[in-house]
Amino acid sequence: MALERLDKLLASTGRWSRREVKELVRQGRVQADGVPVRRPEDKCDPAAVCVTVDGQAVDCAPFVYLMLHKPAGLLSATEDRRQRTVLDLLPEHLRRRGLFPVGRLDKDTEGLLLLTDDGPLGHELLSPKKHVDKVYYARVDGTVDREDAEALAGGMSLGDGLRCLPAGLEPLGDGSECLVTLREGKYHQVKRMLAARGKPVRYLKRLSMGPLRLDPELAPGEWRPLTPEEVAALRRGQGELL
Ligand code: URA
Repeated sequence: MALERLDKLLASTGRWSRREVKELVRQGRVQADGVPVRRPEDKCDPAAVCVTVDGQAVDCAPFVYLMLHKPAGLLSATEDRRQRTVLDLLPEHLRRRGLFPVGRLDKDTEGLLLLTDDGPLGHELLSPKKHVDKVYYARVDGTVDREDAEALAGGMSLGDGLRCLPAGLEPLGDGSECLVTLREGKYHQVKRMLAARGKPVRYLKRLSMGPLRLDPELAPGEWRPLTPEEVAALRRGQGELL
């Protein structure tokens, strides 16, 4: 890992401005591996050095990756003039980092949402060419059956001419519930596909995205940082679930 200026690293966490970092350094409140930092422009390797402010370790990782259990009622957007967005669930220092949701869930859809400030990775995960599977749990009016599964597997054409890639459908229980697997993320796609089969969706929740599975410990509205293993699996584009 390249050496980075300490003021840049600390400011990149979004918790302090560069000017505030300078002041912290001047006051002797910043240490690198237990040694007080003398000048804001001093450099260190963020992967190898423990940086503290007032004795508290600061995570200077270049990017932030959060798993959010999106609740119904919030927009998957970074800001909106009228409505609350998923970013409103985060503390101020994370909101200041410029995180964005990787892909959108409808306002009434719950489940797994990845938030990051790693633009290139976010882009890759959304690219249809990368074929990142997204698995949804749906409850529908009526019951889904083998014919519905075959229609989705064949790649449906929707009323407005939208041609969908082949998708998976696995009926659960009596068929009023199912798992749908998509390799793309077109607007309202699960709802539109199932509505076109005469089985409107009443409840929708995303369970996984590529190797990332929604943590069952997270209640709707809760989030946690990804583990290093989860980040590595996303980077590798690993197919199997963690
Ligand atoms: N498909 C939908 O219809 N809605 C979502 O939120 C996600 C996928």
